[in-house]
Amino acid sequence: MNRILVTGGVGYIGSHTVVELMQQGYDVVIVDNLSNSNIQVLDGIEAIVGRRPDFVNVDCCDYVALDNVFRTYTDIVGVIHFAASKAVGESVERPLLYYRNNTLSLITLLALMQEHKVNHLVFSSSCTVYGQPDPEHLPVDETAPRKKALSPYGNTKRINEDIICDQAHACPSLHATILRYFNPIGAHPSALIGELPNGVPNNLLPFVTQTAAGLRKELRVFGNDYNTPDGSCIRDYIYVVDLAKAHVKAIQRMLGGQAEEQVEIFNLGTGRGLSVLEIIRTFEQVTGRKLPYTIVGRREGDIEQVWADPRKANTVLGWSADTPIPEVLLSAWRWEKHLRNIED
Ligand code: NAD
Ligand code: WQD
Repeated sequence: MNRILVTGGVGYIGSHTVVELMQQGYDVVIVDNLSNSNIQVLDGIEAIVGRRPDFVNVDCCDYVALDNVFRTYTDIVGVIHFAASKAVGESVERPLLYYRNNTLSLITLLALMQEHKVNHLVFSSSCTVYGQPDPEHLPVDETAPRKKALSPYGNTKRINEDIICDQAHACPSLHATILRYFNPIGAHPSALIGELPNGVPNNLLPFVTQTAAGLRKELRVFGNDYNTPDGSCIRDYIYVVDLAKAHVKAIQRMLGGQAEEQVEIFNLGTGRGLSVLEIIRTFEQVTGRKLPYTIVGRREGDIEQVWADPRKANTVLGWSADTPIPEVLLSAWRWEKHLRNIED
């Protein structure tokens, strides 16, 4: 059987992807050091799928320990590499931690893939590599220029993309798919797995659901004086389950020998931009909850507006993000209620 190694598979996007992989019949081994996740996520995956994924508590920067995983699981045919540190603000405060963890884990993994002749890699990149696209590049497609990163975190994504391309050039058997995610949100429809932010959330959706749950007094909307229809920033919010499914398509495409280039890049978004105020209004409508919020000043480093042109993923990968946003927001709310034991 084909086994997929999923690094960071206990985390938010990784856990949803493990579910989709297992439901498609793949065997999975997760490698995660639990630096930003909770082992109980495995119970959630097992409850959804009916099988428990294999799990090894290993740091991807640890060559010897990761080598052992490849030696133990000789049926690994592909790797999906989610493991990384991802807090933008923290990366500004502690750049070395981010450069070390995010680049060294990839380098270690690529070296071991070469050593063990595992030739298929899916890598989690981000729309952050585009920065604020120029107006003629909106919606943004894969040919838009990458811009200077706004944070050390963003820079690790750019550097890691380059490392993958250089390694593929040197190692013709390696095939890689770089997936540039836009803004993943929501939770599994079962409400058994979802996002588990550490401390005060930085991202919009966990802040919204925690505010609705009464954990936070109010949501602060960072700016209403942008050059957008309602003045608040615009993003392409993509349902995490739709995003997870794209990983299965990407690995299938490589394993099936359909990849046309050694390194393929896909934007993963819906193709629709939504403003912060639209998210708030829709959330209130679908949940029937009032969301207290105030408009405050702009957040430093925020991009005004970005959304994807996902046509390459639609046509080439045969994938699209179709789940309607009200359903996505409801899934996030159901997950928050599950976490806080809130009943309607
Ligand atoms: P997450 O923090 O929930 O998951 C990452 C997982 O990797 C965690 O379980 C963590 O414990 C693990 N990990 C970190 N460093 C590790 C290491 N050295 N060895 C082993 N495990 C390690 O994050 P997520 O939101 O699921 O993001 C997954 C990937 O997608 C990351 O690479 C992230 O940069 C990227 N991404 C995320 C977003 C987003 O908004 N969530 C957007 C674009 C890209
Ligand atoms: C979305 C919108 C905020 C919180 C970040 C990373 C990016 C990527 C995804 C990984 C913005 C507004 C937010 C709040 C608000 N991660 N907002 N009040 O900034 O698009 O991207 O996460 O690669 O690299 O930078 O996502 O969820 O933080 O913000 O008004 O309390 O919500 O200003 O317009 P962002 P976000």
